[in-house]
Amino acid sequence: MKTIYLTTPIYYVNDIPHIGHTYCTLATDTLVRFWRKKLGKENVFFLTGIDENSQKTVDAAKKENLPVDKYLEEMATNWRETWEKIGISFDDFIRTTEPRHKKTVQAILQKIYDQGDIYKAKYSGKYCTGCEAFLKEQDLDEDGNCPDHKTKPQILEEENYFFRLSKYEKPLLKLFENKDFLKPEKARNEILNFIKGGLEDISLSRETAKFGLELPFDKTHKIYVWFDALINYFTAVDNEERKHFWPAEHIVGKDITRFHTVIWPAMLLSAGIEPPLSVFAHGFFTVDGVKMSKSLGNVISPVEISEKYGNDGLRMGLLSSFEFGNDGDFSLSNFDNFYRSKLAGGVGNLFNRVVILCQKFRDSKRPIFDSQEKTKNLNLINFEKHLTEKKIKLAIDDFFAVESAANKLLSDSELWKLVKINPEEADKIFSKIFVYLEILTEMAEILAPESAPKMREMIGDNDLVGESGILFPAIV
Ligand code: MSP
Repeated sequence: MKTIYLTTPIYYVNDIPHIGHTYCTLATDTLVRFWRKKLGKENVFFLTGIDENSQKTVDAAKKENLPVDKYLEEMATNWRETWEKIGISFDDFIRTTEPRHKKTVQAILQKIYDQGDIYKAKYSGKYCTGCEAFLKEQDLDEDGNCPDHKTKPQILEEENYFFRLSKYEKPLLKLFENKDFLKPEKARNEILNFIKGGLEDISLSRETAKFGLELPFDKTHKIYVWFDALINYFTAVDNEERKHFWPAEHIVGKDITRFHTVIWPAMLLSAGIEPPLSVFAHGFFTVDGVKMSKSLGNVISPVEISEKYGNDGLRMGLLSSFEFGNDGDFSLSNFDNFYRSKLAGGVGNLFNRVVILCQKFRDSKRPIFDSQEKTKNLNLINFEKHLTEKKIKLAIDDFFAVESAANKLLSDSELWKLVKINPEEADKIFSKIFVYLEILTEMAEILAPESAPKMREMIGDNDLVGESGILFPAIV
């Protein structure tokens, strides 16, 4: 039986979940729901979680005047509860301070060490804590700052352990022969060029770090946080019940593609573990044309949006803003328009009107239609194909194409008049519209999971339609 294992990045615990993180998590959740419907719930595994063993954690706890473990508890609860509140259907939520993770990390690092791929050397470089990475001169801006964090990197000189990444150049190029390993094409070309440009060995430990997991073969060193973080994907399935899910498909932002498609597969190859099945690098969005940042005060919380527009409003509004894999922009005013016109005005009105017409003129009887019509129509719109290819916006466009077709039929036929003057003809139109409503309900199980059961209740599933109602409340 085919199984699917999808992951989001594990987010830095010190941040507050914002719509950037939400975007990736909701997209993954949508793909997960698609596969669950197709393959059965038990054949799909969805992992998300938080990245805790970073210097950022220690700095943030200090700022809050809290002991690190207390701080981590509070933040972890916040992340988990945020995802639960907005309807993320994860199967597991991993924290990198958990004992199960430490065990897997140490086992993998020991394997890499035994393989001869780890050696000790002196290293001096410029380290940015924001990125948790060494930066090269050419990475810095004209003031010598990290371009992303606008801070001066620290000069670190220490004795570190190194991973022989250079040894994996050829095996990685081989992995990239599979065109599906990294998508979209743009990201693939960029990383391929990077590998072809030659790989350098990288430092995998910190001698001076106080916080983090210890190297199994030298307890005086802490493991570089990215080495520890990437392993989370394997930790979650490193047991008898779940090991059949490996290898995973990773959904990540384009900012961290290199870690996932160069370092991570090389680590796994060295440890004798199958590399990930694939990585999909999605784009970044700005908010009203501006990069989201705490200092600009334009960081938007998903909970704020969901309280106003509902969870389905949030997910469809975000995921329909631009195609998954591209960069884009998210604007609250476009979002508001989308909700009012497409969800409340389009879908919500359609369901309500049709059910009321059925109640009024058909004694609530559902029209009869051929269920093959439903399958035929669904196949016509490429919805499955789009989701298989992770073209989430196109899948949402498919949903609204069906909605428009149904609304058009309703108004072109003037069904509310037709039903009085030509009931036989009206019956045919009702049947056609119901095929559309059935299709929309099925698509909503993936795209709008909180509304889907309400839609089903409204259109009924035996002889009668259910109660009319408001699927997407008006915003005041
Ligand atoms: N902890 C690392 C990941 C380790 S995975 C083994 C990390 N965390 S993060 O909190 O910074 O999250 C980064 C991810 O958040 C990005 O890859 C992306 O998926 C998402 N996004 C953050 N801001 C975003 C936008 N403005 N737009 C789209 N996605 C954004 O990196």
